[in-house]
Amino acid sequence: MSSVTCTAPVNIAVIKYWGKRDTQLILPTNDSLSVTLSQDILHSKTSISANKGYAQDRLWLNGIEEDITKNKRMHNCFRETRALRQRMEKEDPDLLPLSTYPLHVCSENNFPTAAGLASSASGLAALVFTLAKLFDLPTSMTDLSRIARQGSGSACRSLFGGFVAWEMGSEADGSDSRAVQIAPDTHWPELEALVCVVSDAKKGTSSTSGMQQTIESSPLMKERLRVVPGRMDAMKQAIKDKNFQTFAELTMRDSNQFHSVCLDTFPPIFYLNDTSRGIIQLIHEYNAANNGVYKAAYTYDAGPNAVIYATKENMKEIIELIGHYFPSSDEKKSTYFTDPYNVLE
Ligand code: DP6
Repeated sequence: MSSVTCTAPVNIAVIKYWGKRDTQLILPTNDSLSVTLSQDILHSKTSISANKGYAQDRLWLNGIEEDITKNKRMHNCFRETRALRQRMEKEDPDLLPLSTYPLHVCSENNFPTAAGLASSASGLAALVFTLAKLFDLPTSMTDLSRIARQGSGSACRSLFGGFVAWEMGSEADGSDSRAVQIAPDTHWPELEALVCVVSDAKKGTSSTSGMQQTIESSPLMKERLRVVPGRMDAMKQAIKDKNFQTFAELTMRDSNQFHSVCLDTFPPIFYLNDTSRGIIQLIHEYNAANNGVYKAAYTYDAGPNAVIYATKENMKEIIELIGHYFPSSDEKKSTYFTDPYNVLE
């Protein structure tokens, strides 16, 4: 029996992915850019064992067995990595025929699943990275990102640490739709993220179905697709220059626009709640009190939980501020940019 365990981090987009041009291959309608958070606080851990004695592939998510035959996206990742392994086995007959062995997969998150905290990103990135280790694939991280993308779009960005872009690509087969690192974790060590868990309830509309509803019904989405390329360029420059003012404004504007296209979807999709909106207002007031020099930026994925980016010098004050105005919220501070993955073999 061969067995491997790995972890993968969460990434939080500052330019959001929302919309697919190909739902089978998971090809997006725009480029996106994210920051990878430290694994110390938020991660997915996946163990996979291959055994010719197993009757079939099986999957446990957070301790509960799931029907793997219904999990098409996971199946995509199995198919792609097994095909690469099979090619290696053909070239080297001494290799164990692991590509033919059934697999048992156990995956768990140490944070609320499906509460808009990027659990599918870290989960599918951990799956693909663990499969690559198990099969000893000589594949680059960018190549693995093409496979992880077919598990969950945002997962392709969790294979790298630091600042990561998902280039949408233009090829119909998805061969140029992959993640690339814009800057490593060490580039901007003063930047930190605070994750505010407003609610750990499972979200009402999944990202997968929400984004397709937006593509089908939101006229505002056209405007979003027009402005995102300019924002990507400006965001890359802001990161390169470690310019928090521009980084913060683009992050907040992009989060707000993403939630606007959700509202413009028909019927509308609501991911934010009153606490989320209260935090948005508080951050704007906090920035305004500093003569408009931004000290903090909020962003929200497909759920009510806030992620606040700020530099180290202001983070203590921000944690106190959130704690004062939202005493019941359970904040988890996340200092980030550690190793993107940690092989625990
Ligand atoms: C709002 O990657 O979860 O977090 O590709 O259908 O699995 P699928 O969607 P998913 O969508 C994430 C959307 C987002 C924005 C982002 O992470 O860029």
